[in-house]
Amino acid sequence: MTERDAPRVTVLGLGRMGTAIARAFLAAGYRTTVWNRTGAKADVLTAEGAVPADDVTAAVEAGPLLIVPLLDPGAIRQALEPAAPSLAGRTVVGLANGTPQQAGDLAAWAAGYDADYLDGAMMALPHTVATPEAFFFYSGPERAYAEHRTALEVMAIAHHVGADPAAAEIHSLAVLGTGYAALTGFLHAAALLETFGTDPETLAPAAAAWLRGMAAFLPELAGQAGSGRYGDAASTIDLNRPAVDALIALSGERGVDPALHRPLKELLDRRSADGHGDDSFAAVYELLRVR
Ligand SMILES: NC(=O)c1ccc[n+]([C@@H]2O[C@H](COP(=O)([O-])OP(=O)(O)OC[C@H]3O[C@@H](n4cnc5c(N)ncnc54)[C@H](OP(=O)(O)O)[C@@H]3O)[C@@H](O)[C@H]2O)c1
Repeated sequence: MTERDAPRVTVLGLGRMGTAIARAFLAAGYRTTVWNRTGAKADVLTAEGAVPADDVTAAVEAGPLLIVPLLDPGAIRQALEPAAPSLAGRTVVGLANGTPQQAGDLAAWAAGYDADYLDGAMMALPHTVATPEAFFFYSGPERAYAEHRTALEVMAIAHHVGADPAAAEIHSLAVLGTGYAALTGFLHAAALLETFGTDPETLAPAAAAWLRGMAAFLPELAGQAGSGRYGDAASTIDLNRPAVDALIALSGERGVDPALHRPLKELLDRRSADGHGDDSFAAVYELLRVR
């Protein structure tokens, strides 16, 4: 492939994520135009083969695909505003963490300039970009996603989760919520074990091994959730109830705040009281879902 034939991409924003993303495109053989508000941040990438744009309009006009990993949705709009008339016919991929509403607002703003907008939520860290560990959610027009999918896969495994621009942020929040519960559970456990003289670093490998097992259980849990079939389960409501009770009691005895686990206790108690104690743990879902 000659340089002229190389696929083109523009990366606007060379912070921690943007720098990793631009490097991934360079490594994949893309003609990579780069722009950053603080221009000096482009120097290292230029030395590695990126093409620095003189200004944001030149960056936008350098190609059909604009990857924009900026601080927040407001920064994306502010950065692109001077180049807005040049956006027509191009695809803007907004990669800033934001709310579903902000994603919708950016999509409407881009549509006003005849640009396609794909919202992206990066489930990654700078060092995992372009590794099998990273995955990005995308939402927006299916056609734009299909057209640019090969390029999007350069950054991370790509999942298109809906035409509604808000969908990527919604899916990202759902995955973050799963992780936050586990991480906070670990911090609580570490505080509890500290009262017995055990270092959090000693707990970490055991907790990680347990979480790997929990992660492997997720597809089964997902299959049960909402199916109405909660019988014949290995891990039932009444099996887990005493464990959660014991955890809360032990925390109280040791002076460690058990607040984190009380909502689960309440859910398990309610399921048991309404005659579902022998059902699978997944039956908790029936108390959480919107009817
Ligand atoms: N870092 C992570 O581990 C991680 C992981 C997943 C998702 N994210 C999300 O990815 C996004 C980028 O994160 P990051 O860690 O790469 O951030 P970062 O290193 O702080 O970089 C922020 C970038 O935004 C630019 N910027 C900020 N305000 C601007 C404005 N008003 N106009 C133009 N440019 C502006 C900065 O330009 P200057 O250089 O000129 O300041 C810089 O290029 C954030 O939404 C973050 O939440 C980050």
